Amino acid sequence: MSEAQAAQIEVSEIQGLVNWLASFGGTPEGGVTRLLYSDAWVQAQNALANKMQETGFYTYFDQVGNLFGRIEGTDCKDEVMLTGSHVDTVVQGGKYDGAYGVLASFLAVRKLVERFGKPKKTIEIVSLCEEEGSRFPLTYWGSKNLVGDYSPITIEGMKDREGMSFKQAMTDAGFPFKEYQTKKRDDIKRFVEIHIEQGSVLEKSQLDLGLVSHIAGQKRFTITLNGESNHAGTTPMTERKDAIVCAANAISELTAIAKAEYPSLRVTTGQLLAKPNVPNVIAGNVSFTLDIRHHESEILEAFCHRATELLSQLASKSGIAIDIDLWTDIRPVPLDTNLHDEMKKGLTEKGFKYTTMVSGAGHDAQVFGQHIPTTMLFVPSKNGISHSPLEFTDSYHLEIGVSVLMDYLYELAY
Ligand code: GLV
Ligand code: MN
Ligand code: MN
Repeated sequence: MSEAQAAQIEVSEIQGLVNWLASFGGTPEGGVTRLLYSDAWVQAQNALANKMQETGFYTYFDQVGNLFGRIEGTDCKDEVMLTGSHVDTVVQGGKYDGAYGVLASFLAVRKLVERFGKPKKTIEIVSLCEEEGSRFPLTYWGSKNLVGDYSPITIEGMKDREGMSFKQAMTDAGFPFKEYQTKKRDDIKRFVEIHIEQGSVLEKSQLDLGLVSHIAGQKRFTITLNGESNHAGTTPMTERKDAIVCAANAISELTAIAKAEYPSLRVTTGQLLAKPNVPNVIAGNVSFTLDIRHHESEILEAFCHRATELLSQLASKSGIAIDIDLWTDIRPVPLDTNLHDEMKKGLTEKGFKYTTMVSGAGHDAQVFGQHIPTTMLFVPSKNGISHSPLEFTDSYHLEIGVSVLMDYLYELAY
């Protein structure tokens, strides 16, 4: 077999693995819906566990469903180099977000062990149970449990949109809630995450890799407006307590303010539920989300303060009661500068076309990065599309990511 043919097989292995994992929760539109503790999620984590086990990794789950594949170090077994990403997706997400990081880590570690045997320091691959916040109103459930940032109180009374309680969903998936205790992992000394960019910076500049210097902070709110349901034909326009109109005004004003005054800020309403949700009744109740992000804390705080004031004013002007629930609050995180410099040196020496960049998307690296030296790398996303069935990265770039990850883990653990 020629070198080129051998390379081709290597190239397709990672793409093949991505397609394989996408079959768990695959949708007719070509996307993936794999929400925390759903059947598709359970099947995916078990299939990954089998794959890791067959490969010879010591495989185990923690109490919230994070999956680990471990190769114990010969010298420092208690110093763990952790690499991976999340297995959950958004509703109708793509095949690569999170999944690529899990699979690239698996492949990189498998190849390292095949080539060099056991590492000096322990390496663990992790398939984190949840990052997206797509099923329950909480985010980073996987990584935050590993750094001790969550407790049983966090999920008390929490339900998904179908009314299923968090505790029940967790228990049904095989992780009995009554055994859940917060436990910080003190043995993790480094975290490395590889991910698709989910934007178009790399593609537009024809670069192969992005080295992440900062990850934007984000806050997610659920706003609930309680006005008055009434007849669409008889209620004068001046006498309404219309929760949909109030929400619409708030969303369009906040969008306009962000566009005009906060160039790097992102504000999104991705979910809006109205009740009773029928054409001839004024909606008395609306709940909607605000996802607000910026890479500088002061700006993020200032905009959020302005947003909550505006919401309260608009609601009170219309005689509508308002509840503002902040359920995700993660500050902007600069990643480790020493690791960053080490990585930069390696990429420059090997002649990769890369840039240093800020991530607007949230990542588990952001959680680990507040506690443990952390590095994050991006590979390009076709047309910058993500959180969509159209998400795509070609084999060439997927494979570059695997090989850079291999080199880096070699430096860290061998
Ligand atoms: C996670 O993917 C996020 O940035 O929303
Ligand atoms: Mn995502
Ligand atoms: Mn992701």
